[in-house]
Amino acid sequence: TMESLCDITIFGGHGDLAFRKLMPALYHLSNSGYLDEKSRIITATRVPMSNDEHCDLVKSKLKEFLSDDAFEEEKFEYFKVQLHVVTIEFDILESYRGLKALLDEYPERQRVNYLSTAPDFFGTICKSMSNLELVTPQSRVVLEKPIGRDLQSSRVINVEVLKYFTESQIYRIDHYLGKDTVQNIMALRFSNRFFMPLWNSNHIDHVQITVAESVGVEGRWGYYDDYGAMRDMVQNHLMQLLCLIAMEPPCSLDADSVRDEKVKVLRSLRMMTPADIEQKTVRAQYAKGSSDGKPVPGYLEGEGVEESTTETFAALRVDIDNWRWNGVPFYLRSGKRMRRRNSEIVIHFKGVPHSIFANQGKCIWENKLVIALQPKESIHLQLMNKVPGLSEQMMLKPVELELNTPLKVAHKPDAYERLLLDVIRANPTLFMRLDEVEAAWKWADVILEGWAEDMVPMKSYSAGTDGPSAAVQLIARSGRSWHDE
Ligand code: BG6
Repeated sequence: TMESLCDITIFGGHGDLAFRKLMPALYHLSNSGYLDEKSRIITATRVPMSNDEHCDLVKSKLKEFLSDDAFEEEKFEYFKVQLHVVTIEFDILESYRGLKALLDEYPERQRVNYLSTAPDFFGTICKSMSNLELVTPQSRVVLEKPIGRDLQSSRVINVEVLKYFTESQIYRIDHYLGKDTVQNIMALRFSNRFFMPLWNSNHIDHVQITVAESVGVEGRWGYYDDYGAMRDMVQNHLMQLLCLIAMEPPCSLDADSVRDEKVKVLRSLRMMTPADIEQKTVRAQYAKGSSDGKPVPGYLEGEGVEESTTETFAALRVDIDNWRWNGVPFYLRSGKRMRRRNSEIVIHFKGVPHSIFANQGKCIWENKLVIALQPKESIHLQLMNKVPGLSEQMMLKPVELELNTPLKVAHKPDAYERLLLDVIRANPTLFMRLDEVEAAWKWADVILEGWAEDMVPMKSYSAGTDGPSAAVQLIARSGRSWHDE
């Protein structure tokens, strides 16, 4: 059957992520028949609350966060039956009693434990669950990022969780992997022969990966200031995108085949030397400016602090030392309070070996494959085309060949829907394996340490712009430029 029967416990179930993403995802899964109606969604929270109060709260949050008016009274009545709430003080074993009573009703059931709490609680929660014999072979645990802020601290957390769950029971989320557009990268690369001979250093000049957000830190200053763009976005989301573009074809779609290939890419990342950090990385913080035409304060304003060394923007030139990518730089950048929300991957192909056409100003003959992830999804290929007409010299212009997919679904699932369903189905393909997380940290740590030692100055950019000019210089140093310049 398509339905799965399981008990899903959300620790930190009254947090922002739970209301914004997890509940809406579960609501859709439940309504579209992916979750057996006898399944239970148990919210574990510190605030004492009755089941009725909890249902009312979930209802109001769903109304707020469900996209495109998906909330329907009738559907909620159906969904509500699955909702349960228990009060837990995470570090007091005694307080897990209510949860134990519930789970023990069905000892054989699949159990999903979603840890949507601060990572400091991961160990305690797993230990308590284990002490109370709530971890069974049917149990899985989902770890939300951040899992640590460097290799060392991520190891501490992973070692702790691994005392109670085996690696195959652990699902480390990177929600970028759940995005349909991101999964499409694999479809595009590995089902179109067309790209096969071209996807390497013989034909690709360089790759750009941009994940720009127009929002600021949105009330998450407390968390964000401890992490910054490198730890919050680059080490995980951008690295995953890079892996999908750079990896060798896996021998199958099964979890380990795919993850083995990604790990190989991460291990091939060239470790930066102090000189590299100076020349190939940019960090910056936003100052006041505007967003959607309205003035917005700078990163530090209104936070009661004078100074912070946390970057809200990072740009890097990354080199991959393997056969396929020798000499092909990957330029990465990500920032908050940028001019517009825009995530895209641009593959820049090399120009033709010899041009028979007159050079027309700035225009160079190169093809680009642009994979736009959000807000608009699109894939297009830039090809050179003749400008129609009688001009004496043949005029060329880049024209976009757009992949206009007629494949539509009624409801476009959010990343969390796909990922929660994969946990329920016990499919870890889209989750990060331990060695993957560690390889990514190992590479990122070198840069973070260099930054901590001030090897590169912290730049500033006005909110609502494309970031600091240093990011433009970073790519201009090799005679290239960002796609949207
Ligand atoms: C999260 C980061 O992982 O991803 C946030 O912690 C960021 O800071 C978010 O805003 C971006 O996700 P999306 O899906 O909106 O691109």
